[in-house]
Amino acid sequence: MNIEIVETLPDQHAKRVKELLRQCFSDAGLSDDERQERADRFCSRADTWRYVVALNGTDTVVGFATVYRRQIERNGASVALGGLGNVCTDPEWRHQGIASAVSAAAVEVMKHAKCDIAYLCAAVDDPGIVRLYGQCGFVPLCRPHTFFGSSGRLYEDSDAMIAPICSPAVYNAVLTSTEPFHIGIGNW
Ligand SMILES: CC(C)(COP(=O)(O)OP(=O)(O)OC[C@H]1O[C@@H](n2cnc3c(N)ncnc32)[C@H](O)[C@@H]1OP(=O)(O)O)[C@@H](O)C(=O)NCCC(=O)NCCS
Repeated sequence: MNIEIVETLPDQHAKRVKELLRQCFSDAGLSDDERQERADRFCSRADTWRYVVALNGTDTVVGFATVYRRQIERNGASVALGGLGNVCTDPEWRHQGIASAVSAAAVEVMKHAKCDIAYLCAAVDDPGIVRLYGQCGFVPLCRPHTFFGSSGRLYEDSDAMIAPICSPAVYNAVLTSTEPFHIGIGNW
């Protein structure tokens, strides 16, 4: 397995990535309203920084993630917020460490991008998922985080994990604060 970091998805991988995302994050069971809300919430395409692609021996995409980077303001100071989203592995290739390798590569990208801390949202009530992201430094935030949707609606969720990247001080401050952690406009 080979891990590649790309700024733009090459044509030969774009189709497979699209299929994989559809397969792994299907919206088939959602109502129109739910689909609309999902689009409102996950409106962070403009913050895409890089893609992480895992390729098998025949150069086929078997794992994927999007790395995000966004400047946010926290207590009057600017914070570089890294992000991990769309983490997925081809069902035929699961439980072989692909998502672990992709997530670890994403954290390295965020270090190069000088992110202070990183955020992701995940099933924090699933010990396996917490273990997956824990391997590369993420811990459950254990309190709400907020963000605006593209409509301007303020959302509050409780499924955040954060990791220190370049600033242990910002990480500790966010982790120990009692306020909801506001991540700006759009979830990922
Ligand atoms: C979750 C997912 C990305 C894991 O991919 P993977 O390549 O199989 O993951 P890894 O092999 O690196 O797994 C490492 C560890 O993560 C945990 N883990 C992996 N898949 C898991 C799952 N579906 N549920 C809970 N924990 C899981 C386990 O602790 C696993 O260790 P193990 O294989 O020794 O049990 C994959 O199942 C997937 O694409 N699911 C659908 C999309 C999704 O839910 N993405 C996560 C969004 S937050």
